[in-house]
Amino acid sequence: VRVFVPRETTALSLGADTIARRLERDAAARHEGITLVRNGSRGLFWLEPMIEVETPKGRFAYGPVTPSDVPELLDSGMLEGCISHPLALGPVDEIEYLARQQRLTFARIGITDPLSIDDYQVHRGFAGLEVALALTPQAIVDEVKASGLRGRGGAAFPTGIKWQTVLDAPADQKYIVCNADEGDSGTFADRLAMECDPYMLIEGMTIAGLAVGATQGYIYLRSEYPLAKKVLDEAIARAERAGFLGDDIRHSGHTFHLEVRLGAGAYICGEETSLLESLEGKRGLVRFKPPLPAIEGLFGRPTVVNNVLSLAAVPFILAEGGDAYANYGMGRSKGTLALQLAGNVKRGGLVELAFGTTLRTLMEEFGGGTLTGKPLRAVQVGGPLCAYLPESQWDMPLDYETFAEVGAGIGHGGVVMFDDSVDMAEQARFSMEFCKVESCGKCTPCRIGSTRGVEVIDRIRADDDREANLALLSDLCDTMVDGSLCAMGGMTPFPVQSALKHFPGDFQRPANGEY
Ligand code: NAI
Ligand code: SF4
Repeated sequence: VRVFVPRETTALSLGADTIARRLERDAAARHEGITLVRNGSRGLFWLEPMIEVETPKGRFAYGPVTPSDVPELLDSGMLEGCISHPLALGPVDEIEYLARQQRLTFARIGITDPLSIDDYQVHRGFAGLEVALALTPQAIVDEVKASGLRGRGGAAFPTGIKWQTVLDAPADQKYIVCNADEGDSGTFADRLAMECDPYMLIEGMTIAGLAVGATQGYIYLRSEYPLAKKVLDEAIARAERAGFLGDDIRHSGHTFHLEVRLGAGAYICGEETSLLESLEGKRGLVRFKPPLPAIEGLFGRPTVVNNVLSLAAVPFILAEGGDAYANYGMGRSKGTLALQLAGNVKRGGLVELAFGTTLRTLMEEFGGGTLTGKPLRAVQVGGPLCAYLPESQWDMPLDYETFAEVGAGIGHGGVVMFDDSVDMAEQARFSMEFCKVESCGKCTPCRIGSTRGVEVIDRIRADDDREANLALLSDLCDTMVDGSLCAMGGMTPFPVQSALKHFPGDFQRPANGEY
């Protein structure tokens, strides 16, 4: 009997390794023959560690399991797929949270052994690369354009157009850089993709290399993801040995090499130009644009800089066709979005859906409301630089244009929920403080503005000349939006302004007091 125990950071932090050891030991003591498979996570975090058993009727799930549950689960007939135990969840594919999703990018996570190339290929892995190897660079770029894929890191720039710019730029050397410095609050989709399906990213980057004529790629990974580093390093080595990476890929004459480089914990190194500085071994300082990285990027050469999820979407697009991807979504937001439910949520996890769903569906039907059981009050979508949304905005469709119209963003798809105990003035202060700590320091509106922003909000909360300070805060926000060099200073005012607009009452009470 094959039993699956995830080897993924969330599950591991909740004891998955101990469960795996216990299962092997207890099953052996009972003379039950089990084959333990360390799969990835399905991304249903509230059920982790979730273990699965392969039965003639499909895979049955149990969770959340603790090591001490193991003997009882074995006694209750788990290896035959029993459904009577209180932790039994039934067939995995029928768990509503999962069954209602449209998993294109995350189709394999939790199903496969992340490091098994055979497993990857059984599930359509490297099919996109095989297609790409038979196409011209322009035809690959055209397929990505047809898919309508837009940058999933947050800025939503059309990926095909970025690739076209790099393809058209003449150079002796070009690069593919994967931005894996996932820094937005509440986000973990990049990590899941890398830990649970690393060949997908390797395949996507290799296809990008073929498309634009780049022979070297770098994954710039945040150092807070040590498991992803291990998995990627091992997957790269195995892919090279199997001929999917390196020199003469699949005997095609094409070359693509890949290396992982670690960041050092600076949020701003997720901004593409400071990321490139950091990759070059310098301090992560934002560069002026133009020139765009697509023209003068890493070491001054044309460079594709894409987020993990943009590159991870590419194998599907090449294997199934750009139109198949574009069939999902709405308006100019094509395909699927990896939403990450976090914060004060009952059922946190990954929800991949076509664009067009609503926040209410996501937070209530998937998330199950708040963990505390108190009413939801606000949600921040898209990370610390994006707006807080009040209930009146929870029913608009999640697509880039609709959100932009109300001054909100989707960013990297992080959805951080807050119950009615949240103090939105404190949250606004936090936005300014975050910018103060993480600013690269290159431009004045951000470097000085964020520090002044914290002080002004403190004065408002202390009821010190409130009206004058509110006007000052408004001016300061305008200056930061208009005068900052990059999104860090330029977008920090958005959460502040949205908190002021939608939750003005919170700015009327003293910092440590009641309404
Ligand atoms: P941007 O709008 O300046 O650029 C978007 C991308 O398009 C860049 O890669 C840029 O080089 C490229 N580009 C623009 N015009 C081009 C052209 N004509 N040809 C080729 N490429 C072109 O946005 P930026 O500053 O790169 O990103 C800001 C976004 O990052 C924000 O919306 C925010 O949501 C997101 N963000 C994401 C984080 C995460 O952890 N994923 C963290 C912080 C911010
Ligand atoms: Fe640096 Fe902030 Fe200016 Fe961006 S806005 S360049 S992070 S100082």
